Parts: sequence; C-alpha cells; structure tokens
Amino acid sequence: MKNGAENSSSVKQVLAARRSCRNYKTTPIDPKILENLIDQARRTPTAGNSQGVEFLVLNGEKEVAAYWDTTLDKDRRDNFPWPGLLLAPALVIPYGIPERYLSRYQEIDKKKSGLGDSIDAWPIPYWIVDAASASTALQLLVVESGMACCFFGQFENEEKVSQRFSVPRGARAIGTIAIGWAAEDDRSSISATRTRRPLGDVLHISEW
Ligand SMILES: Cc1cc2nc3c(=O)[nH]c(=O)nc-3n(C[C@H](O)[C@H](O)[C@H](O)COP(=O)(O)O)c2cc1C
Repeated sequence: MKNGAENSSSVKQVLAARRSCRNYKTTPIDPKILENLIDQARRTPTAGNSQGVEFLVLNGEKEVAAYWDTTLDKDRRDNFPWPGLLLAPALVIPYGIPERYLSRYQEIDKKKSGLGDSIDAWPIPYWIVDAASASTALQLLVVESGMACCFFGQFENEEKVSQRFSVPRGARAIGTIAIGWAAEDDRSSISATRTRRPLGDVLHISEW
C-alpha cells in the first residue's frame, strides 16, 4: 500500500467483507502465517502502552480438540447448532492481563491516577478494551488474508480453559476466535440477520 487513501479503502473493504463464519474446511494453517497475523494485530493501541494483551494459539487437530473437549461435553456437542465451527483448524484466545496494567500505572508518570492500586480502581477495565481492540484487528487481518473467522464467548468455560492450557491466574480471556477457510455451505446465525440500526439512531451529534 503506497498511501493513506489506499490504506483506508482497504480497511473499508475488509470491514465490509467480514462475517462470522461457523462452518470451516479442515485445511490446516501454517503456524508462521498465524504468528504473523497476530504480530500485526498486536500493534493496536493499549492504555499507557501497557501492552497487556497476550494470545493463546491452538493450531492443529490435537490442540483444537483439547479446547472442545474442555468446553463441550457429549450432550451439548450432540445438540450443538454449529458442528462446522468445530472443524476450524485453529483457535486463538486473546487475553487481557490486568497485572500488566497495574504495574504500568504504578510507574512515575501514571502513579497519580491511582489505577495502579487495584483492579477495582479501573472504571473501565482497559485490559478488556485492549484485548477487544486487538481481536478486531486480528479478525480483519484474517479476512484480508483470505481466511474466515468467528469470535465467540467462553461464558462459564473461562476458568476450565485457563486451567487446561496453564494460563496464569488473573489473565482474562475475552472470548475465542475460530480461524480457517470457510466451507461453502456456511449459514448465518439469527443474530446476523438482524438489520443494521440506522446511522441516525446511533450517532449523537453535539447532544445525545
Ligand atoms: C463480543 C461478541 C461475542 C460473540 N459471541 C458469540 C457466540 O458466543 N457465539 C456465536 O456464534 N457468535 C458470537 N458472536 C458473533 C456475533 O453473533 C456476530 O458478530 C453478529 O451476529 C454479527 O454477525 P457477523 O459477525 O456475521 O457480521 C459474538 C460477537 C461478539 C462481537
């Protein structure tokens, strides 16, 4: 990309093209490609440049199976509405690390904020904001690379997943991103069929 105009049009195209994909081909992903996408995604901004976002990569049949074995018991798996999601060759779990933010905000230039004192001091948990921001970047980069993805929640499984994959205490998984190549017969979810709210309903200029 040579200039800003080309960059912004490419972001627009990728944003427009992105859809949550819940049916994948089993084609494996070269670990180097995934590593490179994550390396780019982590360039999103972080509060105080704390850089407290980390990624757990489960790439390959065995690794992905370990995730689903941890989160979906047999009963739920038999009735799971998106069996094709389980075929995704890779899962990436973005983590926000509160500890990194606390220690950064104890440094001299941030100390006065009081945010280095405890997690409860944060009106908005920026480790979640920053992990979400990197996750969106990762999804766009995945789509730009020709693959597909789906961000989905861990809900009650966060603790189990953390234990299974030796994630340090305190690290918060904001969800899981399935990554791979879309199978032709992907179907959209009920959520995705909801129409986009009109811009005028969400844009509040000068006053709400
Ligand atoms: C924070 C968040 C949580 C989501 N959780 C789930 C989920 O648990 N399961 C799922 O199938 N999709 C999940 N999605 C995907 C949304 O349903 C989807 O993004 C939305 O319906 C719009 O469709 P699209 O992504 O195809 O544009 C989630 C998306 C976000 C941003």
